[in-house]
Amino acid sequence: GAPVEVDISKLAPGQMMTVEWRGKPVWIINRTQAQLASLKVTDAKVSDPHSEKNQQPDYCKNETRSIKPEILVAVGICTHLGCSPSEKFKTGAESGVDADWPGGFVCPCHGSTFDLAGRVYKNKPAPDNLEVPRHMYLGDTRIVIG
Ligand code: FES
Repeated sequence: GAPVEVDISKLAPGQMMTVEWRGKPVWIINRTQAQLASLKVTDAKVSDPHSEKNQQPDYCKNETRSIKPEILVAVGICTHLGCSPSEKFKTGAESGVDADWPGGFVCPCHGSTFDLAGRVYKNKPAPDNLEVPRHMYLGDTRIVIG
């Protein structure tokens, strides 16, 4: 598939957009400072907090799983059996995880939950974090995926 170029200049903090790449939905999320801070809480609750599995390019093997800290680019397909996790960010109470979970994306099929870095919550059926596809910046607000 051809690379996809995306303009993220209108993506406000706290918003996400979905683009299609190779027939897959790719989420681009502009995380707020509070959302980035929530990754420190979820560190202890996710099964691969340091991205040791091969689910991202080396340049995204960091705390935020991204090139720029605020911008997450991830394939919105559950790593269990391929359902689409809810795009709506859910709080801990809504997602039925635990009271300290700051929220994330819940897969409707078997309840796997992912944080705002696409990291899977422990003891859920999905084995891996969401895939971060190869991508790069062409300018401050232009990303090419693939
Ligand atoms: Fe997502 Fe099973 S396909 S939890």
